[in-house]
Amino acid sequence: MKICVIGTGYVGLVGAAIFSNWGNEVIGVDIDLEKIKRIKKGHIPIYEPGLSEIVLKNISQGRLSFTTSLSDGIKNAEIVFVCVGTPQSDTGDADLSQVWKVAEEIGKNLTGYKVVVIKSTVPVGTNEKVKKVIRSTLRSNIRFDVVSNPEFLREGYSVEDMENPDRTVIGSDSEKAINLMKKLYKHLGKPIISCDFRSAEMIKYASNAFLASKISFVNEMAQICERSGADIDVVAKGMGLDSRIGPRFLKAGIGYGGSCFPKDVSALYKTSSDQDYDFKLLRGVMEVNQVQKEYFVNKVKRYFGGNLAGKTFGVLGLAFKNNTDDIRDSVAVEVVKDIRGLGACQNVFDPQAMKNAKQLLGDVSIKYCLDKYEALKGADALLILTEWEEFAALDLRKVKKMLKNPVIFDGRILLDRKEVENAGFVYFTVGKRTTGTELLDKRPSGTPGVILKNGS
Ligand code: UGA
Repeated sequence: MKICVIGTGYVGLVGAAIFSNWGNEVIGVDIDLEKIKRIKKGHIPIYEPGLSEIVLKNISQGRLSFTTSLSDGIKNAEIVFVCVGTPQSDTGDADLSQVWKVAEEIGKNLTGYKVVVIKSTVPVGTNEKVKKVIRSTLRSNIRFDVVSNPEFLREGYSVEDMENPDRTVIGSDSEKAINLMKKLYKHLGKPIISCDFRSAEMIKYASNAFLASKISFVNEMAQICERSGADIDVVAKGMGLDSRIGPRFLKAGIGYGGSCFPKDVSALYKTSSDQDYDFKLLRGVMEVNQVQKEYFVNKVKRYFGGNLAGKTFGVLGLAFKNNTDDIRDSVAVEVVKDIRGLGACQNVFDPQAMKNAKQLLGDVSIKYCLDKYEALKGADALLILTEWEEFAALDLRKVKKMLKNPVIFDGRILLDRKEVENAGFVYFTVGKRTTGTELLDKRPSGTPGVILKNGS
């Protein structure tokens, strides 16, 4: 099949690469000339395991090419995928300006029948409006169809997720378009849900919001476990073995981040408000996520008697999760900012996100280190903020020698509590009573920061 993919961000670039890897002839379009020049040379702008090899292979075998010209891109395509960004606007809903612009351009440049597929995450009703926008900009009476085909890939695992999806959702009012899309995905042998536009759009938001709710639920459970002496990891394991619940997305921590969950939960909440419905549960999901981060920062603050001025922390992790260099809406970055705001210095390290973090955070009170141990040298405590596997394998004896005080705040429950405590550390984590929790409990009331009310 001949395919055009507009937008070469995470979804677009991975989509273009994988579609070409399936034997289709694919052309990727982006307005960013520098980016296109770099991709053509095989320089992939994002860290995504396995992607670079697939892009290079398919470019060299002539199935994958790139251009900055939308008209050239769509000229010979049977299917045109729209994969542009839909970031959060100031009012909390999705900013669709890039979608409208691309829809207008497609309309102006359409010369024959095509299926226009919206892969970007867009609120309910958007695909119908896209259809109207394209129709209003057509130069002659050309037929086209629109399809909603939301993407469910996770950053860091996107190649794996696209090759092996749990399901494919195809929403349209055209049977012809649905059949063409089925042809593209049929070989995967996975369930295909064909439905109307609005249900397809809603499936994407419902899925992300439900996963975010799972995380906020387990984070609230972690709060109760910590206070009552239960262990959140054991509780999550016990819950997850119930096939009706499932084990995934039950890892407690400092909250969810990234370019999707925060914006999509907020956009769905805005959609429900616009429909005169107060989605109470989602309001709670967002609030819990905020409190979870503040609670972690406050633990650090309380341990040091409420004053972090003059302290230095070794910080491991800046990306919003492991296996990515993405720091958009990263809770780790938020924690670093909060700790800096409290007057402390930080020596930071992340296996992939250093460049992005430096651009965003600058140099004030932050030293960017070459490896995880350098970040710990002379620090008052270690903070673990991202769930990279390499942080779970820290040499505790080495860590103890490096740190000024043997204190660890593990925001991702990466370390083994017993091992850390046996090695002589004061250990604070999430959802478990640890040496750290007991120390804070023993402080006389009135010690700065001791009283915990909503995590403050
Ligand atoms: C998410 C969804 O998982 C994808 O299905 C979806 O396609 C994508 O958004 C999107 O809408 O484009 P992603 O943002 O890449 O994918 O990251 P996730 O792996 O879902 O993690 C999101 C956040 O939740 C991270 O900050 C992670 O640390 C946190 N998380 C995840 C937890 O705190 N606990 C968990 O158990 C799982």
